[in-house]
Amino acid sequence: MKKYNWAILGCGKIAGKFSSDLSLLENANLYATASRKLDKSTKFAEKFGFEKAYGSYEEMLKDEKVDVVYIATPHTFHAKHTLLSLQYKKAVLCEKAFAINQKEVEKMITTSKERKIFLMEAFWTRFIPSFKKVLEIIQSNELGDLKMIQSDFMFHAPFDAQSRLYNIELGGGSLLDIGIYPVFAALITLGVPEKIKAKAKLSPTGSDEHLEMVFEYEEGTKKAYLKSGFTCNSFNDTIFHFEKGAIRVSRELNETIFVKKNKETREFKVDDGLGFGYQFEAAHVMECLDKQLIESPILPHSFSLKLIKILDEVRDKIGVVYSNHD
Ligand SMILES: NC(=O)c1ccc[n+]([C@@H]2O[C@H](COP(=O)([O-])OP(=O)(O)OC[C@H]3O[C@@H](n4cnc5c(N)ncnc54)[C@H](OP(=O)(O)O)[C@@H]3O)[C@@H](O)[C@H]2O)c1
Repeated sequence: MKKYNWAILGCGKIAGKFSSDLSLLENANLYATASRKLDKSTKFAEKFGFEKAYGSYEEMLKDEKVDVVYIATPHTFHAKHTLLSLQYKKAVLCEKAFAINQKEVEKMITTSKERKIFLMEAFWTRFIPSFKKVLEIIQSNELGDLKMIQSDFMFHAPFDAQSRLYNIELGGGSLLDIGIYPVFAALITLGVPEKIKAKAKLSPTGSDEHLEMVFEYEEGTKKAYLKSGFTCNSFNDTIFHFEKGAIRVSRELNETIFVKKNKETREFKVDDGLGFGYQFEAAHVMECLDKQLIESPILPHSFSLKLIKILDEVRDKIGVVYSNHD
């Protein structure tokens, strides 16, 4: 079994969870961390068991032993850090939102293709067993045609102009941070919408603090009602409505799945393993590297491109502008 040397670029919150999950994988070697500050990188490396710590992203990328880089900086840096990593011929798993807009995502994909280096968006929920099970039920057609989706992702985060959630310079706003999950649920099941309606309440920084979207398909005969925001809490469920039943996936109940067929409802839980759930996307990256692929067959570049095009259209409709990028 080939072992891959992983490096972390940006030692923040999600990088910690991802690193903890990476240690569950036999073929992942926790090799290096990179932070803008050496002491932060060293502490992170010690905590999660990485061999080396760098106090600069580029110094880490110059290390020829690094095989694959996990990019966990704020959205506004994803394109820059991906392009830099690809320049140093490192395979890349880059956090969602893949970048700030379509133009950036296109540049990342073109560079990956030109340099023949692997690149994937870290859309982890695509790889967790419970979501795979939901897709399997939908695709089996046992509940008939999928007609409607309701999906929310909301939590209360008080306004703080400097925080990543609200700071417009860091790509703040609920859409790119958590609204992307309901959008993903609609895209992967109903496809690209024919019509998008969106309304948002903007925060004093101009980021969206509460967002409501309606996607229409097949001349309005199928719809997705999607919400995200930082102003209130929710159960954060996704409900798929079919002709003969419904599926409810509860994020609060650790992805418990409820399937209603005719009048009967059954409840089940798929084992999503020991970690936070990030190990599945990392394992998939290494399967792709074993096969010398430059993109994932499960989460291809074209999917990330469709996703960012929808996010751009929603942003255009609600008037959120990332001025250094758009
Ligand atoms: N997949 C998921 O479930 C999930 C969950 C949460 C977040 N995310 C995504 O992961 C990314 C990071 O989110 P996070 O919550 O981990 O953020 P975070 O805790 O703020 O960490 C981001 C890290 O980026 C680095 N960074 C570089 N330039 C920065 C700048 N100008 N300002 C702030 N940080 C900067 C910092 O690392 P150094 O100081 O070490 O350089 C910082 O610790 C976001 O794109 C987010 O959407 C994904």
